[in-house]
Amino acid sequence: MSGFSAEWLALRETHDLRARNPVVLAAVADRFRSRDAINVVDLACGAGSTVRAVGPHLPTRQHWDLVDNDPHLLALACSRNDGSDVRLNAVPLDLGGNFEAVLDSTKHLVTTSALLDLVSETWLDRLVRHIASRALPFYAALTYDGRTSFFPSDPLDEIITSAVNAHQRTDKGFGAALGPSAVSEAASRFEAAGYSVIQGHSDWQIGTADHEMQRALLSGWAQAAREIEALPHHDIDEWLARRNGKVDLSASAMRVGHVDFFAAPMAIR
Ligand SMILES: C[S@@+](CC[C@H](N)C(=O)[O-])C[C@H]1O[C@@H](n2cnc3c(N)ncnc32)[C@H](O)[C@@H]1O
Repeated sequence: MSGFSAEWLALRETHDLRARNPVVLAAVADRFRSRDAINVVDLACGAGSTVRAVGPHLPTRQHWDLVDNDPHLLALACSRNDGSDVRLNAVPLDLGGNFEAVLDSTKHLVTTSALLDLVSETWLDRLVRHIASRALPFYAALTYDGRTSFFPSDPLDEIITSAVNAHQRTDKGFGAALGPSAVSEAASRFEAAGYSVIQGHSDWQIGTADHEMQRALLSGWAQAAREIEALPHHDIDEWLARRNGKVDLSASAMRVGHVDFFAAPMAIR
């Protein structure tokens, strides 16, 4: 299962939906409660998980511009439209290039999920500058924050987690990625731009029955640790075998730390 494959996005969507922070989501909903229609731009929409998670909390009449550079994911995102008052418009775009014009299609809300940990400091600066210059509210969900716990623990968990966090900081197409520091960097920039920021944890709580999710994560983390050369490869392989053995016995659980935030300009538009 590759990084942004439709299979992986479908697998994580159930966990994302459960994990989204309800207080942050309520703040988004409250902001638009008095409207009967809303225009939203979703950056790096993938297969459309944000539309499905957030749409039910927004005014009934919705227009979404769904932005991604993967045409297959965009087609999937637009094919799953359950609401007759919801219009979904695919915007194929490389967000690594000039993306600011896409923000002009909304006066109301910019959203994203599972994107900010992939971007660089320079890209984040641009994003905040362009959003703030349009005084747009911004909701960012499910940004990884570096906290991973395994139950029961294994002696190599800590070193593997450190390797994963180091790998998170490598280039994911936007320059050296912010990885686990993305939310604190974004929140401080929005506050400096005159926004109020509400944030809360949205951790994946992955239970003993979630075999497929655990196997996918463990395999990805072992690969990240190999690429970082954190340990001899046979140690990583043995760690993976021990952890997968626990998964097979339904004797393994995990918690993966994420943060959601909603940044809103102080003055209501
Ligand atoms: C981790 S996935 C998150 C997808 C979706 N927001 C979700 O929560 O399921 C990251 C998304 O970013 C998109 N992406 C990565 N680099 C991109 C780029 N340079 N331009 C546009 N989209 C990009 C991928 O195609 C993928 O859909």
